[in-house]
Amino acid sequence: MKSLANKRILLGVTGGIAAYKSAELLRRLREQGAEVQVVMTRAACEFITPLTMQALAGRPVCMELLDHDNETGMGHIELARWSDVILIAPATANFIARLAHGMADDLLSTLCLATDAPIMVAPAMNRQMWCNPATQANISTILQREINILGPGDGEQACGERGPGRMLEPGQLLQAVGAIFENAMLAGKHIIVTAGPTREAIDPVRYISNRSSGKMGYAIARAAVEAGAAVTLVTGPVALPVPEQVSSVKVNTAKEMHDAVLSSAGSADIFIAAAAVTDYRCQDVAEQKIKKTGQSLSLELERNPDVLAAVASLGTPPFTVGFAAETELLKDNAIRKLEDKGLDMIAANLVGDGLAFETDDNALEVFWPGGSLSLPTAPKEKLARQLIHTIARNYYEKHSNKAH
Ligand SMILES: Cc1cc2nc3c(=O)[nH]c(=O)nc-3n(C[C@H](O)[C@H](O)[C@H](O)COP(=O)(O)O)c2cc1C
Repeated sequence: MKSLANKRILLGVTGGIAAYKSAELLRRLREQGAEVQVVMTRAACEFITPLTMQALAGRPVCMELLDHDNETGMGHIELARWSDVILIAPATANFIARLAHGMADDLLSTLCLATDAPIMVAPAMNRQMWCNPATQANISTILQREINILGPGDGEQACGERGPGRMLEPGQLLQAVGAIFENAMLAGKHIIVTAGPTREAIDPVRYISNRSSGKMGYAIARAAVEAGAAVTLVTGPVALPVPEQVSSVKVNTAKEMHDAVLSSAGSADIFIAAAAVTDYRCQDVAEQKIKKTGQSLSLELERNPDVLAAVASLGTPPFTVGFAAETELLKDNAIRKLEDKGLDMIAANLVGDGLAFETDDNALEVFWPGGSLSLPTAPKEKLARQLIHTIARNYYEKHSNKAH
C-alpha cells in the first residue's frame, strides 16, 4: 500500500534557490499515491517553471489569487478545504514573515489563512537570513500557532557559505508528511521524561525538597505520547495522576531517580529531564525524629548524583534535554549548563511572578548549539506540545546530519 494513497497535498513553492528540489519532492509525493496541487508564488516561477510542476503533478499549477477562471472552478476557499495538508517547500524568509503576520496578499498566503488543514513549512535560505532575529521571531510566532517547521538542515549552501538554512532533502520531507497523517512525529521512539521534585530524608518525618509540582514534566509526557512515542515517566512524589499510555516509575530520592533513569537511558532515543532534582542530601539520616533543643541545628549535606550529566556523558547518549529554573541571568546560566553538561538542548525558565513552580502557566527560553527559541507564557500543556515539536525537529536534524 502506498503510504500517501488518497491524501490531498497542497504543495506551496516559494521563490528560493531550493525550488528546484520541489520538483523531486513532487515526484516522490505522487509516487506514494498522493494527489498534489501545486501553488507557486510569482517569485517561485523565476526559479522553476510551472510547466515542469504541472507535468509532474498531472494538473495545472495555481498561481493567482485574483483569477476569474479559477474562482468559478476550484476557487481559493475550495482549494483551502480540499487540502489534507499544506506543505510549503521551499519556504522563503519572506513567505515565513508573511505567514507570521497573517498576510493574505497572494494565493498561497491566503490559502494558509483560509485552511484548517495542518501546515508544514520547510525553510530554505542563506544562514544569515535564517539566523536573523526577525526570521527567528517569525519562526517562533508560527510555531506557537502549531505550524510544523521542518528543518532547516545545516551544511553547504548555494551561496557558498556553510551553516543552518538548507532545505531538508525531499526524502526527509516525504517522511515528515507521512508522519503527520499518522499523527506520529515520534512514532517508534522511546522517550524518558523525569518530573516532579525529589525528597531527601533528614529523619523519619522530615525531608529536604523543592516546590516543583511536576505539572510541566507530566504535560511533556502527555505531549510525547500524543506524538506517538513510547514514554517512561520517572517521577518524584507529586499529586498528579499518571497520564494514559505512559509507563511510570515512582521514586523519592535523587539517587533513586538516577538509578531508574540510568537503567534504561542507554537504549532510549530522547531523555527530557524536567524534574527538579535536589542537589544535596543529608550525609547522615537520623534514625529517630530529631528532637528540638534550645540550640541551632546544623545538617551536613553532600552532593547528590547529577542525573542529567550522567545521561549526557554516556557512550552513546540519547538526545538529551535539560531544564534550568533560574531566578536571574536566565540566558547565561542556561547556556553555561548546556555547554558544561554537553546537552543537546536546554529549556530555561525564570522562577517566580506566577510562573514555573506550582502553576499552570510557564514561559520557556529554549537553547541548543547554534539556535534558540522563545516560547512565551502559555498553559503548560501547550508549551509541552511546542517543546516536543522543537525537540523532534532537532532530534531528526541531528540524526540526518549524522547520516550524511
Ligand atoms: C538568486 C536568488 C536566490 C534567492 N534565494 C532565496 C532563498 O534561498 N531563500 C529565501 O528566503 N529567499 C531567497 N531569495 C529572495 C526571495 O526570492 C525574495 O525574498 C522573494 O521576494 C520571495 O518571494 P516569495 O516569498 O513570494 O516567493 C533569493 C533571491 C534571488 C535573486
